[in-house]
Amino acid sequence: MKKHPLTVGVMAGLLSLAATLPLQAANETSNFSTPRQQMLQQEDIASQIEHLLAQMSIHEKIGQLALRDWGTFGASDMKSIKQAVREGRVSGFLNVNFSAVDKNAFEELQRIAVEESPLGIPLLFGQDVIHGYETIFPIPLGQAASWNPELIRNGARIAAQEASADGIRWTFAPMIDISRDPRWGRIAETLGEDPLLTSILGVAMVEGFQTSNLADPTSLAACGKHFAGYGAAEGGRDYNSAYIPERLLRDIYLPPFKAGIDAGMQSIMSTYSTLNDVPGTGSPFLFKQILRDEWGFDGFVVSDWNAVMEMVPHGFARDARHAANLAANAGIDMEMHTDTYEKFLPQLMDEGKFSEAQLDTAVANILRVKLRLDLWNHPYPRAQSEAEREQIIRSAQFLDAAKEAAKETFVLLKNDKKVLPLKKGQTVAVIGPLAEAPHEQLGTWIYNGDKKHSRTLLPALRAMVGDEGEILYAAGLDYSRDMSTRGFKAAVKAARKADVILYVGGEESILSGEGHSRGDIRLPGAQAELVAALAETGKPLAMVLMAGRPLQLDDTLEQADAVMMAWHPGTMAGPALADVLYGETSPSGRLPLTWPVGAGQIPIYYNHLATGRPATDDNYTRIEKIEREVFQHQPGNSSNLLDYGHKPLFPFGYGLTYSEFEYSDLQVSSTTLDANGQLSISATITNSGRTTATETAQLYVRDLVGSVSRPVRELKGFERVTLAPGESRRVQFHLTAEDLAFHNAQMEQVIEPGEFRLWVAPDAQSGLESGFTLR
Ligand code: BGC
Repeated sequence: MKKHPLTVGVMAGLLSLAATLPLQAANETSNFSTPRQQMLQQEDIASQIEHLLAQMSIHEKIGQLALRDWGTFGASDMKSIKQAVREGRVSGFLNVNFSAVDKNAFEELQRIAVEESPLGIPLLFGQDVIHGYETIFPIPLGQAASWNPELIRNGARIAAQEASADGIRWTFAPMIDISRDPRWGRIAETLGEDPLLTSILGVAMVEGFQTSNLADPTSLAACGKHFAGYGAAEGGRDYNSAYIPERLLRDIYLPPFKAGIDAGMQSIMSTYSTLNDVPGTGSPFLFKQILRDEWGFDGFVVSDWNAVMEMVPHGFARDARHAANLAANAGIDMEMHTDTYEKFLPQLMDEGKFSEAQLDTAVANILRVKLRLDLWNHPYPRAQSEAEREQIIRSAQFLDAAKEAAKETFVLLKNDKKVLPLKKGQTVAVIGPLAEAPHEQLGTWIYNGDKKHSRTLLPALRAMVGDEGEILYAAGLDYSRDMSTRGFKAAVKAARKADVILYVGGEESILSGEGHSRGDIRLPGAQAELVAALAETGKPLAMVLMAGRPLQLDDTLEQADAVMMAWHPGTMAGPALADVLYGETSPSGRLPLTWPVGAGQIPIYYNHLATGRPATDDNYTRIEKIEREVFQHQPGNSSNLLDYGHKPLFPFGYGLTYSEFEYSDLQVSSTTLDANGQLSISATITNSGRTTATETAQLYVRDLVGSVSRPVRELKGFERVTLAPGESRRVQFHLTAEDLAFHNAQMEQVIEPGEFRLWVAPDAQSGLESGFTLR
């Protein structure tokens, strides 16, 4: 397998323990330390924890488990909050919105914690810094389409630098839930459907947030969420039940969390959903058995917002007291938003239902992370003045990085007649509800993002063409759900005047994200009608889609000559799109998930099992071709949908460029692989087109026979290569027996000998094929 950053991640995990001593002189630029130093510091942290615990009252200990939501407080609550902090009853706050509160109040609370609370333990400020802080990067699903860990690491690093300027040292990211359901609104926050891709990109995000040294004042502790199985919410309905057999859980849903923890990820958030009938927030199986006993996690676990109390409507807890008991005993260290721990743990302890040793463990888990973050030496916002802040936040360098990142996330799905790139000199009619939509281009979870900083498409296109060509504009629809055809006339008129139509549509940002799932994933509003009207002009039609999920495209796909998926690209959407649309850079994004024909095909994912009757192009009859009253078996019996067929619209890993690539000369170093051996797999990739472009070569395997049925393909590695026209390069992957391990029916991780197929491929549905025997 190609060496991917997981190995780097493990190193970062070790290095992240390198916190400088708390209560010591500040070391602003503390660097990597040697393993021996790390050990010492680790011991120092352990003794600091012991020292603190020995002095804490039960109430102060319980206070360290309390994460309060700033957004739920009014100005009139300030006095009581200050008092709670003064008494050591609060561990931290989440989601402080600086535009809504007085920043001094925030600093004042930290001052009270540090100077007036009994032991001076600093508060930890956490925030949903999901895809940027004020410089908004593309949504995570878009970032995943880059298949570029470096890009993701860099984006997280920038977000951490901005957020820490405001005193935030903990982010509720990465979201590493695997999802196979684009109806689920939160798929926008995921890194896609594949466990390996999500692991690699999730680790990159952790590394970007945390750096190799958590004590660095620009680092944020990362939080892997949501443990576990949230992405499998039934029917795509958010917060819903997830049913995942343990084998599948261990092979598909858990690996990104394990990878994150091995990379030093400091916290984990519980899920709202039930997993096999047990609410995630009340599951000792997840938090004790897997997280602590099997994986040895030594950071802390936080409940999701209100999730402890939600065990009551789940019908799992009788009341708040019972919920506190269940969550605390399941291993939820910190309670987000609700205060059942504060209210009920003392009583539960008196009754022997929760011990002081358990409480000490939870407190120690939290203090360990606070100590590693070196909050004692850096309790306050990094930017001490507005001028300092301005130097950091939305700096030219950060904005440029956001633009460069966005350019790598666009996935070209179709480009007939080479309509893209646009050519200077053309008259372009820009039409559609999302071409000038500064808020919508930012996507979900933008606590600190603001549309007033968005760079939109129209001015960027005009700057790009200058006086070489004309950019006309008629939105046609005011917003993505707009049903009114009032603007169609002007739009068609502009289209008629143009050489080429650029339609920019999709979904507003509110149509994806938390609680915003859709059953119908077609273009909302009257967009399909508008595209049809534009197509009727006969002009070349290029379409840019912005959305938090793949959309059902129906006839629109035929009507458009070119389609580029841009996700929600963030602050710099306009300039990034202009560059790619005009061919300054070729698109290079690849789908991090399978794109369905329609919602009725969901769940659809590339690493599915084969059935006993796999569908092929000719073993079933499409609905429109079935004769009336034909004998039952005659149109064929295979695993397909009569109307949607058996293939997705676009496979996992798919994406075009402005050039063409050829794969040739697949070589496998041996026909056999031994338990301790390694296979080298290589192939030549040639840019046979006319433009420099980046190809992402993917290695897939199939285990032909197993003690349980095995997926038709599994991603085992990938490599991005940028090639000039005519240039060739060999890509090389290494595969070991360990890479082929899976969980058997007894939940043992096994490597089973047998025959394997492998592919070096541009996507999950094609490629050069070979095979080997695992002995
Ligand atoms: C979400 C989490 C988020 C938390 C804090 C919850 O509703 O599920 O992902 O981190 O709120 O804002």
